[in-house]
Amino acid sequence: MNSKILIIGACGQIGSELTFRLRSQYGDENVVASDISYSNLDIVNSGLFEIVDAKDYASVKTCVEKFKIDTVYLMAAMLSATGEKYPMEAWDLNMTSLFNVLNLAKANFIKKVFWPSSIAVFGPTTPTDYTPQYTIMEPTTVYGMTKQVGERWCEYYFNKFNVDVRSIRYPGIISWKTLPGGGTTDYAVEIYHEALKNKKYSCFLKEDTKLPMMFMDDAIEATVGIMMADPESIKIRSSYNLAAISFTPKEIAASIKKHLPEFEITYQPDYRQDIANSWPKSINDSYARQDWKWKHKFSLDAITEQMLFQLDKKYN
Ligand SMILES: NC(=O)c1ccc[n+]([C@@H]2O[C@H](COP(=O)([O-])OP(=O)(O)OC[C@H]3O[C@@H](n4cnc5c(N)ncnc54)[C@H](O)[C@@H]3O)[C@@H](O)[C@H]2O)c1
Repeated sequence: MNSKILIIGACGQIGSELTFRLRSQYGDENVVASDISYSNLDIVNSGLFEIVDAKDYASVKTCVEKFKIDTVYLMAAMLSATGEKYPMEAWDLNMTSLFNVLNLAKANFIKKVFWPSSIAVFGPTTPTDYTPQYTIMEPTTVYGMTKQVGERWCEYYFNKFNVDVRSIRYPGIISWKTLPGGGTTDYAVEIYHEALKNKKYSCFLKEDTKLPMMFMDDAIEATVGIMMADPESIKIRSSYNLAAISFTPKEIAASIKKHLPEFEITYQPDYRQDIANSWPKSINDSYARQDWKWKHKFSLDAITEQMLFQLDKKYN
C-alpha cells in the first residue's frame, strides 16, 4: 500500500523541495503539503494543500484523519538566528510541534515520523573538527537547545512507545528555489543572489568562518534515504550526524569568482558570528554512511555551478 504523507512547514526552504520530491515519488494524491499560511504559491497551487498549525494538536490530528496520513515530515521550526530574537516563541514552536507529532504517533494515528535536527545541537565545548556522533553537546542558542532536547525526546518515544521516528542533523542547506528562513548559514545562499544581481556581497560572518554545508539535492536525498531504509538499519533514534562539505565565506567567494571574476565580497560580522563560532567546522557522519548508506554528491564548485546557472535563469 502506498504511503500517505503529510509535510508540515511545506512552504519553507526544505519543506518545499521535499514536497515536490515526495510527490514525484509517491504520486500527487498521496502527498499533502501544509503550512501555517499560504506563503509559497508554488506549493499551494501545485497539489493538495492544507492550513495546519503545528502548535495545535487538534489542527494536526484533523488533517491526519482527513487524509488518512501514515507518515509525517515535521519541517516547521523557528531557525537559529530568528530564534535568538524570539527565544520563547522558538522554544514553544519547536517543542510543541514535535510533541504533537510524537504523541499522534504514540496514539497510533500515524506510523512514521521524520523530524530534522541540526548541527546547532553542538556548542563551544564540542570538538570542532570532524565532530563525532557522540560527543559533548552544550548548545548556546535557544534553537540548538530545542534540537538537542528534541533529539532526546525522539529517542525516548522510540524506546518507550516504539514510535518509528527518524532524524538527521542537517548542516547549512544551500538552495535556489526558496529563500532560507532565518538561519546562521543563510549567507551561503544570499551570496549567490547578490553575486548575480549586484556583483558584490557584504557577509555577516568573518572570512575564515568554516561551517558544514550541503546542497539541497543532497539534503533531500538524505531525508528520503533515511525514511526508506529498513527500520532495523536505523540504529540511532536520536539523530544522525550528516555531512557533505565545509567551507568559509572566503572559499565560497573564490568559487564564485571562477565564474564572475568581478565579484567582490566584504565582511561585516554581526550577532550571527557568535552563533557560527559555537558550531563545528566539519562533521563525522560515518554512522549514517554505514547504517543507511548515505553518500553526498555535490562539491562546493558543483554547488556554485548549479546555483549560478539556476538563479541566472530565474532572474532573466
Ligand atoms: N535550512 C537549513 O539550513 C537547516 C539546517 C539545519 C536544520 N534545519 C531544520 O530543517 C527544518 C526545515 O527548515 P527550513 O530551512 O525549511 O525552515 P523555513 O523557516 O524555511 O521553513 C519553516 C516553515 O514552517 C512554517 N511554520 C512556522 N510556524 C508554523 C506553524 N505553527 N505551523 C505550521 N507551519 C509553520 C513556516 O511558515 C515555514 O514555511 C527545520 O526543523 C529546521 O530547524 C534547517
